[in-house]
Amino acid sequence: MCGIAGCIGTEAALPFLINGLKKLEYRGYDSAGIAVYDNGNIIVRRKVGKISELEKAIAGETINGTYGIAHTRWATHGAPSDRNSHPHRNDDGHFAVVHNGIIENYLDLKKELMEKGHVFSSETDTEVLPNLLADCYEGDLLQAVWKAEKRLRGSYAAVFMTEKEPGVLVAIRKDSPLIVGYGKNGNYLASDIPALIGYVDQYIVLKNDESAVLTKDSITVYQNGEKVEPEVLPLTMDIAAAEKGGYDHFMLKEIHEQPRALRDCLSGRITPNEPMVNLGELKLDREKMASINKIMMVACGTAYHACFVGKYIYEKILRIPVEVDIASEFRYRDPIVDEHTLTIVVSQSGETADTLAALAEAKKKGSHILAITNVWESSIAREADDVIYTRAGLEIAVASTKAYSTQLLSIYLLGFYMAEICGKMERNEIKQYLDELYRLPEKVQEILDRDPDAIKVLGETVAESENAFFIGRGLDYVVALEGALKLKEISYIHAEAYAAGELKHGTLALIVDQVPVICLCTQRDVEEKMISNMVEVKTRDAKVLTFVFEGDNHGEKVSDTVIKLPNTYDLLSPILTVIPLQLIAYYASVKRGADVDQPRNLAKSVTVE
Ligand code: M6R
Repeated sequence: MCGIAGCIGTEAALPFLINGLKKLEYRGYDSAGIAVYDNGNIIVRRKVGKISELEKAIAGETINGTYGIAHTRWATHGAPSDRNSHPHRNDDGHFAVVHNGIIENYLDLKKELMEKGHVFSSETDTEVLPNLLADCYEGDLLQAVWKAEKRLRGSYAAVFMTEKEPGVLVAIRKDSPLIVGYGKNGNYLASDIPALIGYVDQYIVLKNDESAVLTKDSITVYQNGEKVEPEVLPLTMDIAAAEKGGYDHFMLKEIHEQPRALRDCLSGRITPNEPMVNLGELKLDREKMASINKIMMVACGTAYHACFVGKYIYEKILRIPVEVDIASEFRYRDPIVDEHTLTIVVSQSGETADTLAALAEAKKKGSHILAITNVWESSIAREADDVIYTRAGLEIAVASTKAYSTQLLSIYLLGFYMAEICGKMERNEIKQYLDELYRLPEKVQEILDRDPDAIKVLGETVAESENAFFIGRGLDYVVALEGALKLKEISYIHAEAYAAGELKHGTLALIVDQVPVICLCTQRDVEEKMISNMVEVKTRDAKVLTFVFEGDNHGEKVSDTVIKLPNTYDLLSPILTVIPLQLIAYYASVKRGADVDQPRNLAKSVTVE
């Protein structure tokens, strides 16, 4: 979704602003713009399309000003166009703003401002901000921003500047992330860390309802009009984290980072030969666990699919009923949640608006909230009672890969942690699973190294079809859901996942000559049933592409291709089976010439409901 970058310092602002926007490209956008204070004027340039269009538009211009703001827009109110792009100025051009989020009462504000004579030139909600600010301004930018903010409803991260008060940026934040940072040549801000890497040594994550004033020498943070001492964190992330590092796409790099990400996720949490998971930082103690009679898992997209794995695991090992819900549905259906429910929210970004709203709803109902997230100090991490960080590292491709596998690993760790504390499993059995979890990063590496060409061929075969199906039973079915989503979002092939036993109740009608059916067949207790379902599709001339564990030869007669995966316990299979599905989607997308890392219409972090 939209991205913000800004800086104020001693050197020309433009290179940082453009570079910062490029580092935010992965969030998804349809237009971009900058505003730089230069020689007493705010120069604004905005362009629909890629950042390269904006660069073309300003090529040859000399813009030397040392502070400014920049924005990538993902259209919500008003179509993608030059005039709807940010930064927006008020009607006389003295105030400029960039904004992420939605001003829900913008129509009322716009009407009121128009009655006062303000003239609007875009269809956006954002344009009310600079005009409202101009209306509130009485010689002090910060006071005017605060006065204007009192009139706003909705979610926002916004940054303001004015020609009337040179040398100052004012930032505000409510339900949309904003980070400010100290650098060598001044002070910076951005909606996401990647824009700041290489410029900033220390950063502050603004909390909800905080505001910040940036000058070239200082950052001052306020809450309710009072100065506060914010927590200052070191920015240790290497520039390499935000680069492709020799891979053609971020997605491929991130798929290959999974062994490392899984190891990081395990680090310090399990020790070989120990039957215990160390998650001692959780407030979820034995007494709290004993009071839980239901687990609710809530998320969106890929994270929602991770929750399904959680349902299968927790119901099996903890014998507690687990409900899984899509975050955007959860809060509107008056879910049955109370103080005896453990709510687990899963989110890579920790900023997904629907998941955040679901969290708030569950919290209101008295539930203990445990977040599984990748982003340190994200809104979801801050609102939850407990957090397990997945430690996947920066994920830039819109299609989530290493975030998903580390979400799964975190789900397992929590499950075995609770099983041990609540005495739901024998310690020896837990130890066997933990030892195997410890070996999984190596097995993921084996899949990536073993025969990459075979999976590439599968991806390219799938690319030739307009439809594809993914089938499996048990945990294979829930991983199939993720395989189908991956393929849809980056290759634009229509893909569906089905519980294999459900095919004959409708979907079999869609199985026609040579349609690819990707079969996951790793769950040994339902293997024979699964083979029967594969026969059903093979009989209808589907192209049957099968994944089984080593040593299993059952699928061969009914498949066009069989790929063997390193053996593991059935219960832990999702962390392995998802890897080839990610690769199939990747190679299908490349073959079709689609934009792998930034698929059409999608954004990495969906910060509007
Ligand atoms: O940041 P989150 O995990 O909360 O994001 C949730 C979904 O938007 C996300 O998983 C989305 O489905 C991915 N593009 C899937 O690859």
